[in-house]
Amino acid sequence: MTEPLVVAIDGPAGSGKSTVARAVAERLGLEVLDTGSMYRAVTSLALREGVDPRDADKVTILATAVDLRVGVRVLADGVDLTKTLRSEAVNELVSVVASVPGVRRELVERQRAWVAEHGGGVVEGRDIGSVVFPNAAVKVFLTASDAERARRRGDEAPESVARRDLLDGGREVSPLVAASDAHVLDTTDRAVGDVVEEILSWL
Ligand code: CDP
Repeated sequence: MTEPLVVAIDGPAGSGKSTVARAVAERLGLEVLDTGSMYRAVTSLALREGVDPRDADKVTILATAVDLRVGVRVLADGVDLTKTLRSEAVNELVSVVASVPGVRRELVERQRAWVAEHGGGVVEGRDIGSVVFPNAAVKVFLTASDAERARRRGDEAPESVARRDLLDGGREVSPLVAASDAHVLDTTDRAVGDVVEEILSWL
């Protein structure tokens, strides 16, 4: 059996992942999986249910038990959490929740199941090329200058983004790093269409 086509797009906050992932997916006729929304959903659910996001055992149980549906809208146990995913409270705690090994184990398994069900996809996150899909057809690691990344972040305060970057880059399990065989692409001053063409040329 041939492997489903996976395009892995990783990078820090504001590097252009979501925009590029959507455009690449459209060109290839694939769907996009935004894995960040899964970590955000577990964080939001913990806050909603009064579970301490810093309690590794409790958030692992939550991540294991939840019925999670991710797409244009994100539902956890039937509750639509879409509007809460980019709140300040979630921004502040998501990297803490994402550093819990049990949460990562569970969500990585679900990401692999999603790709199997969808017959491939464009998957964006922090550890997609390095851990989740080490055999992806193409691995892209996007970067951009600090000023450009701050501009793209919109509402999130620069200190909050910097804090997430620090936690994501420094955690023990699956830190944010480019896989050794990833194409590192600086998107500062590059048009989306141009970035997409370059990625497609690697397929
Ligand atoms: O807002 P931005 O697009 O930068 O982030 P996101 O993709 O929504 O991810 C939010 C947070 O989830 C990140 O800061 C990481 O802490 C975590 N994350 C992760 O650990 N691994 C992934 N594959 C995706 C996201």
